[in-house]
Amino acid sequence: METTDLLARHRAGLDIVREAGALALDYYRRRASLPIERKGLQDFVSDADKKTEDLIVERLSRLFPDDSILGEEGGLRQRGPRLWVIDPIDGTANFLRGIPHWCVSVGMIAEGRAVIGLLFNPVTGEMFSAHAGGGAYLGDEPITVSGLADLGASSIGMGYAHRLPLAPYVAEMEAALRAGIDCRTLGSGALDIGFVAAGRLDATYYGHINLWDVAGGLAILAEAGGIASDFMAGDAATNGNELLVATPALYEPLRAMLLRAERRAA
Ligand code: IPD
Ligand code: CA
Ligand code: CA
Repeated sequence: METTDLLARHRAGLDIVREAGALALDYYRRRASLPIERKGLQDFVSDADKKTEDLIVERLSRLFPDDSILGEEGGLRQRGPRLWVIDPIDGTANFLRGIPHWCVSVGMIAEGRAVIGLLFNPVTGEMFSAHAGGGAYLGDEPITVSGLADLGASSIGMGYAHRLPLAPYVAEMEAALRAGIDCRTLGSGALDIGFVAAGRLDATYYGHINLWDVAGGLAILAEAGGIASDFMAGDAATNGNELLVATPALYEPLRAMLLRAERRAA
C-alpha cells in the first residue's frame, strides 16, 4: 500500500474515531436509560454500539468508497481488498457499568497484515495510534513496549469469553500465576494491546478473540516494538483466533507457557 494512501487513511481515521468517541461518550453519560440487548452469556449490546458503528461506517464509506468494512455489529461490506475493521465499543461490560475503561477501535488490514491502528478512550481522552512504518503514538508522544525480561516482575492482560470451554483458561491462568505473573482482566482486549504497546502491560493473552477486538491494536503494537502471534493465520478474519502479544524478551517464555497452538504441537 502506498504511503500516501496509508497516511490519508490514518489522518481521516483519527478524526472519525474522535467523532465516534464523542458520540459513544454521550451514550455513556446517559447509560442508565439505555435499553440493553443480550447477545449471549455476559455479551451485551445497546444503541451506543450500533449508532457509533453506523457513524464510522458512514464516514469511511463516504471518504473511501472502494475500501471494505467489517463491523462487529453490522458485519462485512465487501468492496476492495483493503479492509477496515471496527469495534465501535470494546469493553462494553465496563461501559455499561460506568467503568471508564473502554474504547472505540478501528484498524485497517491490507495484504494480510494490520497497517493502521486507532484506539480512542473518550473518557480519558487517550488516543493510541499508528500506521505501518510511522511509529506508535499515545496522543502526540511516541510509545514503545516495556522491554521487561523478568516474568516474575511482569503484568499481563488476560480475558475469558463465556462462549469458550473453561478448563484451558483456568490452566493457563494457574500456570501464569505460578510463574509469579500479575494477571489482569481489565475488560477491553483492544486496550490491553494498546497498553502493551505503551509499556503499561508487558503482554496480553486471549485463548480466543475476534478480529474486531484486536484489529485496532495490532499495528500500534508492531510499531511500538512488540511481538504478536500470527493472529491472521487461517480463518481468523471470520472465526477469530488465539492471540499472544508481548514485549520481545517475554514473548518466547509466554508462548511456551500459554499459546495453545504451540502446546498442541509439543
Ligand atoms: C470484549 C472485550 C473483552 C474480551 C471479549 C470481547 P466487547 O469485547 O474485548 O476484553 O475478553 O472476548 O468480546 O464485547 O466489549 O466488544
Ligand atoms: Ca470487542
Ligand atoms: Ca464491541
